[in-house]
Amino acid sequence: MKIEPGTCALVTGASSGIGRAIAEALARRGAQVGLLARSLRELEALADALPGRHVALPCDVGDAAAVQAATDRFAAEAGGLDLVVANAGLTHYRTVAEQPLAEVEQMTRVNWLGTVYTVHAALPHLLAAHRGHIVVVSSGAGLRSFPAAAAYGATKAAQRGYSTALRHELAHTGVSVTTVYPGEIATALHDHERDRMPPWYRAKDARPATTLATKILKAVEHDRRELYHPPEVRLLGIVNGISPKLADRMLHRLRGASAAPRLD
Ligand SMILES: NC(=O)c1ccc[n+]([C@@H]2O[C@H](COP(=O)([O-])OP(=O)(O)OC[C@H]3O[C@@H](n4cnc5c(N)ncnc54)[C@H](OP(=O)(O)O)[C@@H]3O)[C@@H](O)[C@H]2O)c1
Repeated sequence: MKIEPGTCALVTGASSGIGRAIAEALARRGAQVGLLARSLRELEALADALPGRHVALPCDVGDAAAVQAATDRFAAEAGGLDLVVANAGLTHYRTVAEQPLAEVEQMTRVNWLGTVYTVHAALPHLLAAHRGHIVVVSSGAGLRSFPAAAAYGATKAAQRGYSTALRHELAHTGVSVTTVYPGEIATALHDHERDRMPPWYRAKDARPATTLATKILKAVEHDRRELYHPPEVRLLGIVNGISPKLADRMLHRLRGASAAPRLD
């Protein structure tokens, strides 16, 4: 699909980081954006700052009824729905032995079920129009999960399985799907846990969210099945798919022993 003035795009997690960068890039292209997240004040300030007219949609993506209501409201106010970006997410990096179940449940509700609720709410609008595009923001951690991020990686792998099948299910409907696998991106995602990030995590290598946002818009316009950013993430997916043992050796070498303590 083409992103142009009049395009109606709903972005979850639009108040910060990658979602905010996507919303800004969409608004610069003339799209009308539904800005969905929990922080109403940030969303309203963003809606005011962006060129054009946009809709702040305060909503918890872990609440299916609220996501449905926000999506329907945006489609009604914007006069349709063309593009949906399921991006809202959060992390709690901790080993399985140390992780409280409440953290696992929150990541499951927001990252995984939040994606399901977003697609469930948006899909009828797209199918009725016989056109549109869905973007699911997964993670490199959905290709090969990392120590201290087992539950997070599982939510990202769940998104991957879901969106892979969904793209095929939607063949010949006019609606398509792109799955995004970011590596480390400079956002607020880990701000609450900077003091306990595992050694394999490299904050200094984090890429700007704006570059990723530009690539996501291009991937939508070219109907790309997947987007890996930075490109090394794709290599990780290929190597891990062929030989997880080889991927462990690669990560051990590139990210140190904490990324793959076992090489057997
Ligand atoms: N940054 C990275 O290195 C990286 C790498 C791979 C994948 N990702 C993925 O990229 C996505 C965006 O993350 P980010 O890096 O941009 O992080 P971020 O700056 O922390 O932004 C997260 C966004 O999600 C929203 N959000 C969190 N919980 C929510 C909830 N229950 N309901 C609605 N919105 C919620 C936040 O808004 P409110 O707090 O206002 O609700 C915020 O807008 C996530 O899915 C993440 O897993 C990030």
